[in-house]
Amino acid sequence: MQPDAPILIFDSGVGGLTVLAALREILPDAPVIFAADQAGLPYGTKSEAEIAARVAGLLGRMSERYRPRLVCIACNTASTIALGMVRDVLEIPIVGTVPAIKPAAALTRTGTIGLLGTEATIRQAYVDKLEAEFAHGKRLIRQAAPGLVTAAEAKLRGEPVDPDEIAKAVAGLREQQGRAEIDTVVLACTHFPLLHTELSQALGPDVALIDGSRGIARRIASLCEGQEFQADSGGLAVTTGPLENFATLGAVLESHGLTRAERF
Ligand code: DGL
Repeated sequence: MQPDAPILIFDSGVGGLTVLAALREILPDAPVIFAADQAGLPYGTKSEAEIAARVAGLLGRMSERYRPRLVCIACNTASTIALGMVRDVLEIPIVGTVPAIKPAAALTRTGTIGLLGTEATIRQAYVDKLEAEFAHGKRLIRQAAPGLVTAAEAKLRGEPVDPDEIAKAVAGLREQQGRAEIDTVVLACTHFPLLHTELSQALGPDVALIDGSRGIARRIASLCEGQEFQADSGGLAVTTGPLENFATLGAVLESHGLTRAERF
């Protein structure tokens, strides 16, 4: 393994930064490439076939160009649809991001768990499987919240978060909950932890918010155990969209150690 081989973190947009932030906490020196498929954003409103083809194609080409030691699909939508396919195609470790239903089921006291994700994520058989395996005997209430993806992207660009989008997502959960109240909410989209403060305020102090970023970072670290890291001149941020898209995100990218940018 080349010590400068990067860890490639891939998402449709800025959501992948939540995974990168958790990774930086435990592997601060690892060379990283953060890739955002901004030309394909949002994934959540696309079909399964479109997402699978797009993600597998892009990750294949990115792996050829950047020769990563590991790829992390830091996107629940892409992972729940295309993880198996990408693993079949690439011969390096692929870490996916799937809804943190298991820790949520361990934490809930009321037995009612909310799950906020994209439209595409909440309808996946992968989520049915996680529910059957880990939340048996509990209630999992799924709510699509596409507006939160837009709100998170806006927030990182320094724009105000639309309070209506937060209210809509929370109301969607509450309307379905019935008598046993939701006390735990799974943030099943990597964009949503960027709105932790806003969601937590709207849901109230008795509701715990769970996301998988720390667990994913630990998984990446364990797969890289024993490997050498040669810190490079700074992490690289890659976008499939126009490079100007990164201009408004400059300070945010830099705060994640991403000091170079290029278009893919
Ligand atoms: N960040 C992505 C996820 O975790 C999806 C956002 C989108 O492109 O719709 O699901």
